Amino acid sequence: MMLRGHDFVSMDDLSPEEVLRVLDTATDLKRRAKAGDRPVLLAGRVLAMIFEKPSLRTRVTFEVGMWELGGHAVYLAPQDVQLGARESVPDVARNLERWVGGIMARTFAHRTVQTLAEHARIPVINGLSDLEHPCQTLGDLLTIRERFGHLDGLRVAWVGDGNNVCHSLLLGAAKVGMHVAVATPARYAPDPAIVARAREIAPASGSRIEVGTDAKAAARGADVIYTDVWVSMGQEAEREAKIKVFSGYQVNGALTAQAAARAVVMHCLPAHRGEEITSEVLDGPQSIVFEQAENRLHAQKALLSLIL
Ligand code: CP
Ligand code: NVA
Repeated sequence: MMLRGHDFVSMDDLSPEEVLRVLDTATDLKRRAKAGDRPVLLAGRVLAMIFEKPSLRTRVTFEVGMWELGGHAVYLAPQDVQLGARESVPDVARNLERWVGGIMARTFAHRTVQTLAEHARIPVINGLSDLEHPCQTLGDLLTIRERFGHLDGLRVAWVGDGNNVCHSLLLGAAKVGMHVAVATPARYAPDPAIVARAREIAPASGSRIEVGTDAKAAARGADVIYTDVWVSMGQEAEREAKIKVFSGYQVNGALTAQAAARAVVMHCLPAHRGEEITSEVLDGPQSIVFEQAENRLHAQKALLSLIL
């Protein structure tokens, strides 16, 4: 396993063994942190964080994570760098690699974070692009494994938009042997290339990937019901149209009643209460959304400690 120096632009950048290595490291760092033991694994190392979009969780967990590991993070707001406008993306990469040990970038186009990775000789981490959100998936797999004690054979229902979070979850689940049943309006199905890749990976782990439009069918017997906003960052102009099409895809009491008795409800947050999820469910006993939010910290500390 040679994670050091590698980019993490897609969930597909990690082998199944590497995914488990990150999760095991995260579990260990979390346990130690709770006991007051924070190993200084990145003393003096610096991470640049470029944001083209807003963030709460990603910004805070990367910044706190670097600090807890003995390093430092530099926050670059959307108006600071202006990737590709004030300066070309390759030139931003060529500058940053002279000063810092790694780059985390939240971009609109997936191509932008790929271009940073191609031109920087330091590791580049995708902190969400229009295509993927792989750091979210690491935290989510950690959260699911903590809850159920294992990942393989679990059934996840993805209900809502076939978006970036869905894409990374499909790839991650396929690697660790979880089954995913996706239910979205037909127009908003996940990217066929991602689904094809997940299906290509799945047989080796015993995972099954199903894509359809029936939310109830997807939720039936599920161990995890996962949803996300219907309107992702950058899609604000589509809001009116999307809200109408998605009305049958709300995660509410009626939908969660279809799932297994032990089922949990997940959401990457931020949530739009009353749209993709009701407050009753988000604040209810099955919701593990704040465990997910916490685990972003532990999962990313593990990732940083292994690749930087
Ligand atoms: N889930 C997540 O990435 O949240 P932020 O957009 O607040 O970073
Ligand atoms: N799909 C959402 C996730 C936010 C963390 C978005 O891209 O806005």
